[in-house]
Amino acid sequence: DLLEQIAQLEKLLTVDTAKLNEIVDHFVKELEKGLSKEGGSIPMIPTWVMNMPEGTETGKYLALDMGGTNLRVVEVELLGHRDFDVKQSKYRLPDEMKTGTADQLWDYIADCLKAFIDENHEIPEDEEEKEKKKQETIHLGFTFSYPCSQSAIHNGFLQRWTKGFDIEGVEGHDVQPMLEAALKRKDVPIKVTALINDTTGTMVASNYTDPETQMGVIFGTGCNAAYFDTIGNIPKLEGLVDLPPETPMAINCEWGAFDNEHVVLPRTAYDVQIDNDSPRPNQQAFEKMIAGLYLGEIQRLIMLDLHEQGCIFEKQSVDKLKVPYSIDASLLSQIEEDPFENLSEVESIFLERFMITTTGPERKLVRRLAELIGTRAARLSACGVAAICKKKNITRCHCGADGSVFNKYPNFQERGAQALKEIFGWTETNPKNYPIRLLPAEDGSGVGAALIAALTLKRMKEGL
Ligand code: BG6
Ligand code: GLC
Repeated sequence: DLLEQIAQLEKLLTVDTAKLNEIVDHFVKELEKGLSKEGGSIPMIPTWVMNMPEGTETGKYLALDMGGTNLRVVEVELLGHRDFDVKQSKYRLPDEMKTGTADQLWDYIADCLKAFIDENHEIPEDEEEKEKKKQETIHLGFTFSYPCSQSAIHNGFLQRWTKGFDIEGVEGHDVQPMLEAALKRKDVPIKVTALINDTTGTMVASNYTDPETQMGVIFGTGCNAAYFDTIGNIPKLEGLVDLPPETPMAINCEWGAFDNEHVVLPRTAYDVQIDNDSPRPNQQAFEKMIAGLYLGEIQRLIMLDLHEQGCIFEKQSVDKLKVPYSIDASLLSQIEEDPFENLSEVESIFLERFMITTTGPERKLVRRLAELIGTRAARLSACGVAAICKKKNITRCHCGADGSVFNKYPNFQERGAQALKEIFGWTETNPKNYPIRLLPAEDGSGVGAALIAALTLKRMKEGL
């Protein structure tokens, strides 16, 4: 019966404290391995962002934010006292573009930038002034949130696409000249001054407004974190840089790749199936259990399996539910958040979206399942945060966090905080006083990209 099914799902998807600790211990080792010469599956990419902002930075910068769902062009004005103004335009990144051609992608991005500039930058009346303005280079902080190897702050060789992207001809290449070539084709005088990851951007921006911030984390379509290490702790840079060992270096962990060798994560048959059917199997093992792109898919696969076993939606057509990725994280959160005792919102979702009539007990199961999937994601996420803190001996800090799952998924923040409490064995009962806290980053990436562009230009001027 369904109660028995629920109990089985609880067993399958619950990560208890002992398991959390086992994961954290392995995670710490894998972070170290990623920094070592031989390397591991977590990329641990040096970003060449080598200092936090001072808070006094000023100036206007352009940022382009290519995250998981949207493309944003942001003009940031740094006001010099840990404050800023932003002007932004959001553009949808059409789904078909995620599997289209490289030229389509870069041209689309260049068009968005051009449209933003045409709209927001005044053209001087005077011909001479107009010409002068045309020649002026605009410095861009480009937030390109995919794993990129960087030999300097402005470049990034895409290691592999993540988050369901599959565009030929970009992997293995430096994305900076590709974007600049498209900009040139459109006659837009923009130079990519800094190429950054959303996690690095979030960390730097959060540190600008809250200097207690030591980490940037994204829980959105994908999931990842950045923190500061020191050159002396990064053996793989040995011989490549001639800098004192205490020099700071921001690391884009790309922790979505944690446990690609499947040693410790409690993967289920459904997680395996998602991986096998994805454009990049055997990659991003951790991310595929946590990130927004996959949460609804886990729910869909489990429900289909239960249907095939004859447990739910008996004698009904589940054709619509058979469409891959037909449940996204926002639908899953609606299921979990149904405020009605009889779960009438769940009822209409299934009826309208999937043409499935549900019974009361079925709705209860479906909702409990959503809760279990969301809770598992939040608890596993906390393992990454805890691992970085343990590795760096951080006992107290703020982590700037962003992304649709962090900001919108019901109870995600509370569940993550609870898991941290269990891992560290805190006795404090008020989450606001927990020593390690995840706090929402206000427009992290855009401001972060602007700040990093500002820091880079300053270093260039100083000849460093
Ligand atoms: C946005 C940031 O708020 O969150 C992006 O500006 C980031 O840089 C994004 O990539 C992540 O969230 P999602 O849900 O869009 O993947
Ligand atoms: C994926 C990307 C990573 C990004 C994260 C969050 O994991 O590989 O670069 O930071 O998603 O957007």
